[in-house]
Amino acid sequence: MANIIIIGMQWGDEGKGKIVDLLTEFAHVVVRFQGGNNAGHTVVVGQHRVILHLIPSGALYPDKKCVIGNGVVVDPQVLLREIDELQKLGYFKDDEQLMISENAHLIMPYHRRIDVARERMKGEGKIGTTGRGIGPAYEDKIAREGIRVGDLFDETVFRKKLEANLAAKNPCLETCLRDKGFDPEAIFKGYMEYAGRLIKYVANTSVFIDREIKQGRHILFEGAQGTHLDVDHGTYPFVTSSNTVAGGACTGAGIGPTKITEVIGVSKAYTTRVGEGPFPTELKDEVGEIIRERGREFGATTGRPRRCGWLDIPLLREAIRLNGLTGIALTKMDVLGEFETIKICTSYKYRNKRCEGVPSQTHVLKECEPVYEEIPGWKAELRNARNFHDLPPKAKDYVRRVEELTDTEVILVSVGERREETILRRNPFNLGPRLS
Ligand code: GDP
Ligand code: IMO
Ligand code: MG
Repeated sequence: MANIIIIGMQWGDEGKGKIVDLLTEFAHVVVRFQGGNNAGHTVVVGQHRVILHLIPSGALYPDKKCVIGNGVVVDPQVLLREIDELQKLGYFKDDEQLMISENAHLIMPYHRRIDVARERMKGEGKIGTTGRGIGPAYEDKIAREGIRVGDLFDETVFRKKLEANLAAKNPCLETCLRDKGFDPEAIFKGYMEYAGRLIKYVANTSVFIDREIKQGRHILFEGAQGTHLDVDHGTYPFVTSSNTVAGGACTGAGIGPTKITEVIGVSKAYTTRVGEGPFPTELKDEVGEIIRERGREFGATTGRPRRCGWLDIPLLREAIRLNGLTGIALTKMDVLGEFETIKICTSYKYRNKRCEGVPSQTHVLKECEPVYEEIPGWKAELRNARNFHDLPPKAKDYVRRVEELTDTEVILVSVGERREETILRRNPFNLGPRLS
């Protein structure tokens, strides 16, 4: 049995899609367990560059099951568009490949409008959300007012819930958020059409996953966003509205923690962030620009330029503790090939005193200054490296320094966006020895 969780260690966009796609070869089922179409996971295979927002990144293998678990918030319009686009590219031909939990909550049109209107009202104090309605959908879930995927298949139940929601939301939209309300009939009609197309995919996915595990199949759990966007443990309030840490895989897929065998964290060799919030190693200079250009750091969901900075070890140490990580996948090493010297932040200073760890108060973290160690760069192209010994000595030193500072093994080094541009040092699905 090997059931592995893949988690982002930073603020999202670490390259989880690439790593999940790569490891799907060794798994039978890939499960998304939280978030929604705020995620944008890029997979580059052959001629195709595919950005997945809701469907797990295992979708490009015809024989692997993809599950959208109960912890995900599903925008049915986006999901159906994604299925259509994958099918146009020749993937996802078999309806059996996808399963959606009947307990997953639906993103409704009013969620999107509330999300955008609230951000507008907040002005300077905005979170910088993706505007996809994620926060408002999770709010309804926790308030016990949400509408779930399973509700789509009983017209009376769906209509009643929709009307009750709009009775509360329309006045709020019109009065507090100075926007337009919704006509229940228009939403009802649209969602019944989605229901007709989605019904074939809907199931009790917790039962399915349990059965698969009992049959000895390997499951890959695909995290969305990153540890520091977690609603409990992240840089609150500049976070998303779900638990992005590994514990969320159990609640969001409906399995127990004893079934998990490994948790792998994905981190870039540097740091990025989209949206607002503290970012101690952010580079607002030419170096940040070079990273953004070389790393093509523009949001996969909204196209916004990503803020860029040096690698932040305190953030990674937090991620290791919060997720119980057993290994790191270090991505985008090739992007740093430009620099004479590279900085790694090893701790922070707050008002001239060294901090232990990452302060949990966001206003304190905002004032923290990074303490750097500077190491020589390798000034070389890495994209052709396939084994650890193919890397230039200074690039190997960088990886080893990350291992030392985090006290965690780097099991994979990614040197390009393509599936094959990878050095797999230990395969978590294979209990054999290290490969290189
Ligand atoms: P995710 O949200 O964590 O799946 O990450 P995104 O797909 O949003 O962003 C990561 C970006 O980096 C994507 O465009 C990937 O194709 C790309 N990428 C992943 N790994 C590497 C790598 O090792 N080198 C380079 N140059 N690009 C990479
Ligand atoms: P993946 O899975 C990077 C950020 C938004 C914003 C905050 C809240 O591709 O790594 P939300 O719309 O979730 O309410 O926005 O979270 N955010 C992400 N940043 N990658 C993501 O997903 C993100 N999903 C949300 O930019 O700062
Ligand atoms: Mg992304």
